[in-house]
Amino acid sequence: MALMRGDRPVRSTSIGFGVFALVFGIVGAMTARQALGQLPAPPESPSLPDKGVGPIKEVKLGPLDPALAANGEKIFATHCSVCHRLDSRYVGPPLGNVTKLRSPEWIMNMVLNTNGMIMNDPVARDLVGKYGSIMTVSGISPEDARAVLEYLRQASNQAAKK
Ligand code: HEC
Repeated sequence: MALMRGDRPVRSTSIGFGVFALVFGIVGAMTARQALGQLPAPPESPSLPDKGVGPIKEVKLGPLDPALAANGEKIFATHCSVCHRLDSRYVGPPLGNVTKLRSPEWIMNMVLNTNGMIMNDPVARDLVGKYGSIMTVSGISPEDARAVLEYLRQASNQAAKK
């Protein structure tokens, strides 16, 4: 008897739970987004879905392109290594693992729209507090920034293999 009565309620409960989980998920994501705006997240905690603020809305990643990464390494040496190392903190954070923490869009926006990011992106703003210094980059084109991103992807892959 219990079995027969149990059949329907179980089904409607699971639909009810699905709707509940969906609503809860959306509300949760919205509150998290708001909370991020007020309380900065710890700098090394991942913020992967965050695309940041700036001209880069979407980056399509393919398999690693070694030639592009090699070009990026040169640009990194000229424009970034004054302040960044891959493995250790320097003027700015270590970048060898940054593609595991931040989205490609976020990284490129940080390079191409540094001031906008520092003013409007909670994660970037929090990093300024932690590093006590303001990142400045000049003369970088979107193509250069994309090449540096490839170099940083390669660095992350190599770090993962170690
Ligand atoms: C003048 C020093 C300086 C230069 C040059 C510089 N950065 Fe930065 N970078 C910083 C600092 C300092 C921070 C931390 C945020 C802040 O305080 O502005 C930072 C933060 C970052 C972050 C965020 C790291 C994280 O943990 O999320 C990325 C990514 C980044 N820089 C990439 C680059 C790239 C790529 C270049 C070269 C194109 C570059 N930076 C050039 C100083 C610099």
